[in-house]
Amino acid sequence: MSHASVLSPAGSTPDVRIRLAGPVDAAVIIALLDRIHGETPFMLYEPGELNVSAEVYAARISESMGKARWFMLLAEDGGAPVGFINGFRGGARRTAHVLGIGLGILRSHWGRGIGRSLLAAAEDLARRQGISRLELSVQPTNRRAIALYEKLGYRHEGTKRNGQLIDSRFVDEHLMAKLLADDGPSPATAGASPAPAPGR
Ligand SMILES: CC(C)(COP(=O)(O)OP(=O)(O)OC[C@H]1O[C@@H](n2cnc3c(N)ncnc32)[C@H](O)[C@@H]1OP(=O)(O)O)[C@@H](O)C(=O)NCCC(=O)NCCS
Repeated sequence: MSHASVLSPAGSTPDVRIRLAGPVDAAVIIALLDRIHGETPFMLYEPGELNVSAEVYAARISESMGKARWFMLLAEDGGAPVGFINGFRGGARRTAHVLGIGLGILRSHWGRGIGRSLLAAAEDLARRQGISRLELSVQPTNRRAIALYEKLGYRHEGTKRNGQLIDSRFVDEHLMAKLLADDGPSPATAGASPAPAPGR
């Protein structure tokens, strides 16, 4: 699949499209992440913390995509990026069926079904890569995200106490996951090797 492939229209906004990102999108992705990090406390990174050049980020994307360790789907409104979801997995064979995910959408575009569409598109891609478990962590006060995850079949599996430190206060993280299959190895997940992922 080319990085420019359009996977689907997203949500209730016909102008929004979802496509797979690639190394050439590094600068666009960094700008989008910086905006989202500045708009909400619910992401992993603090505003301005990403602090990576487009060249370095593009190289990370190339390496991780080359090893099928990472992907990002971009939601674009009229061609402008408004949201993303990424998937990342470790290199050990015993956890190669597990995909960690992270997503974020510009505040201006919340509540239009884009999050739901990004999650569905990522799940579809994950299934085709032989992934059978999707997992994520979410702050307990992030009710919008938790409601969305629950509607899509994610279940709360536990709580990482004091998992994050935000504005000098510890915050728990809820661990949520969705099983795509009950069991069974997939040839697509065998033989993965470790490499640093671009991050989430
Ligand atoms: C969380 C986030 C990804 C959701 O994306 P979105 O495009 O706004 O979500 P959608 O419009 O697809 O769906 C939101 C769903 O939650 C529901 N919802 C919205 N606000 C809610 C609330 N306060 N409580 C409960 N449910 C809520 C909506 O009704 C909708 O359900 P529906 O599809 O059945 O109508 C987005 O708001 C975001 O980027 N937030 C900031 C970053 C973030 O929190 N990322 C996730 C970190 S784990």
